[in-house]
Amino acid sequence: MRRILVTGALGQIGSELVPALRKHYGDDRVVASDIRTATVGAETDGGPFEHVDCTQFHQIQEVVRRHDVGVIYHMAALLSAIAEEKPQVAWQVNMGGLYRMLEVARQYRCAVFMPSSIGAFGPATPRDGTPQDTIQRPTTMYGVTKVAGELLCDYYAGRFGLDTRGLRLPGIISHVAPPGGGTTDYAVDIFYQAVRYRHYSCFLRPDTCLDMMYMPDTIDAIIRVMEADPSRLVHRNAFNVAAMNFTPERLADEIRVHIPDFAIDYDVDPVRQAIADSWPRAVDDGAARAEWDWAPHYDLAAMTADMLEKLRVKLARSN
Ligand SMILES: NC(=O)c1ccc[n+]([C@@H]2O[C@H](COP(=O)([O-])OP(=O)(O)OC[C@H]3O[C@@H](n4cnc5c(N)ncnc54)[C@H](O)[C@@H]3O)[C@@H](O)[C@H]2O)c1
Repeated sequence: MRRILVTGALGQIGSELVPALRKHYGDDRVVASDIRTATVGAETDGGPFEHVDCTQFHQIQEVVRRHDVGVIYHMAALLSAIAEEKPQVAWQVNMGGLYRMLEVARQYRCAVFMPSSIGAFGPATPRDGTPQDTIQRPTTMYGVTKVAGELLCDYYAGRFGLDTRGLRLPGIISHVAPPGGGTTDYAVDIFYQAVRYRHYSCFLRPDTCLDMMYMPDTIDAIIRVMEADPSRLVHRNAFNVAAMNFTPERLADEIRVHIPDFAIDYDVDPVRQAIADSWPRAVDDGAARAEWDWAPHYDLAAMTADMLEKLRVKLARSN
């Protein structure tokens, strides 16, 4: 059995994807990697860890060859807000990294998972019930790299027969690793601040509606799409997936079900607000449901209850 390589494994999603893949396929079959150094034990879960900068072709090639890698989950990227701050670096990491990953995958016949984003859409895209196949003219560097990444993955599938698959992930909410600088980070920060201080100052307007997903559903979706029967796949890169959508105001109301004196105010960041305003409010994930039986388990109420329960334990331990 060939091994699995996860790039960007110390990030928000990688930190939970690696343990889930190890549980599913076996500890030794999953090689975690990142440009950052892992703290032995905690973050790497005790399994193999390699330093891989995804912009360095020979580093990827050496690790893929040495570990006999057959599947790559390519999570390394700069997220939307950081990419807008450093567009040139974002192009190098997001596009340069993906291109090199696909080239190594072509040489070693690896399957590739590529996480796209609701950021791959733009202001010309229908914002409600956003179809699977629609206009994609993003106005951010993050979005440009995501839509180009989707096309490049489809190209490698069509031209070289590579098994490339992807998801257009919405904002991901989780309690293990902090988010990496995206526009939806508020929906994680708000929980930490609610538990610690019962107050949150939000950088998006109260009525900004965006798609979101809880991490257990995200991990489930990533593993399922990679295990899906290829004969059922009409699409590859990348599937719309949705679980819930809400505004900061609605999320604050749900937190108040558990913390009645929780207060929110707004200090809007024009850069992140402009990014959010260019994204869909609610995507249509019918293709994912039809082609690989996608079905999320957590809605807003279930996610909020679980986040608060887990964070209370985590923050009490760290005090
Ligand atoms: N978290 C979300 O809400 C969300 C939503 C949609 C899509 N995505 C996509 O999912 C993927 C993972 O996101 P995340 O939230 O875990 O991101 P993150 O920022 O938390 O983690 C990214 C990881 O990539 C690493 N990295 C950066 N540059 C690198 C390089 N040159 N080589 C190797 N590693 C490098 C970082 O050290 C970090 O650990 C990204 O492609 C992101 O665009 C995330």
